[in-house]
Amino acid sequence: MGGYNKEESLIAKNYDYKAPDVELTVEADNLEKRYGNFYAVKNNTFKIKKGEIFGLLGPNGAGKSTSFKMMCGLARPTSGTARIMGIDIKKQPEKARSNLGYMAQKFSLYGSLTVRENLDFFALAYGISILKKEEKVNEVIDVFGLKEYENAKAEELPLGLKQRLSMAAALIHNPPVLFLDEPTSGVDVLTRRDFWNHITSLAKKGVTIMVTTHFMDEAEYCDRISLFYKGETIAVGTPTELKQQAGANDMETAFINLIKESEK
Ligand SMILES: Nc1ncnc2c1ncn2[C@@H]1O[C@H](COP(=O)(O)OP(=O)(O)O)[C@@H](O)[C@H]1O
Ligand SMILES: [Mg+2]
Repeated sequence: MGGYNKEESLIAKNYDYKAPDVELTVEADNLEKRYGNFYAVKNNTFKIKKGEIFGLLGPNGAGKSTSFKMMCGLARPTSGTARIMGIDIKKQPEKARSNLGYMAQKFSLYGSLTVRENLDFFALAYGISILKKEEKVNEVIDVFGLKEYENAKAEELPLGLKQRLSMAAALIHNPPVLFLDEPTSGVDVLTRRDFWNHITSLAKKGVTIMVTTHFMDEAEYCDRISLFYKGETIAVGTPTELKQQAGANDMETAFINLIKESEK
């Protein structure tokens, strides 16, 4: 899946994962977040299938991060809900959360802790038992090629490695669903390419990926895209479908045309 074809990434190759036997993995169901009279997210509904790369594409302030936070149980929806692997995030937040890994828009690493200490922290935060913690941390250090940096402080790592560490932290409990909020902003072109190679390889293994981006070329790597504008979904489809719908040859023009259409 995904439009990005390259050899399978090393990370995905070594990543030990067996996809569960379900079809729908992520569902947003009339999800809404209101601050006072302002709707940051309005009546948002979508469904994502196992192994799909689903992109949320939209300008700053469109409500992408707010949607992610609600779907992770970090912000309470004003109304509506989300389900992760069929589990309602409002009714069983902990159980739902144990099925997902979340890479926040701003790295949630602890700068003054080392790579290993950060992974220890996330292992416990994601509910891995003390007994299994060391084994799991060693495993992701290996899989993500972090061995030579394990004692370096997170704040001293170059951006590309910080990003890799964040991804390792989000996957430490082998979740079937991975949320990535602007994982490539501020990252150089080669690192971006590498990162997308990991994403598409993980999806091929059956990991479901929901990712936000404002890079139009990255939108093309998604299986399906939801165009997000002023808190609302204005169009959903494959990159090809969206371009057809908008009568455009490229994503950027498609996006502009679809926004204009929605404002009529
Ligand atoms: N805690 C908050 N209180 C009030 N408004 C907020 C809060 N959090 C986000 N917003 C507003 O909600 C809108 C959507 O924000 P966000 O979800 O971060 O957008 P995106 O991730 O697409 O850039 C923005 O207008 C933002 O200012
Ligand atoms: Mg955001």
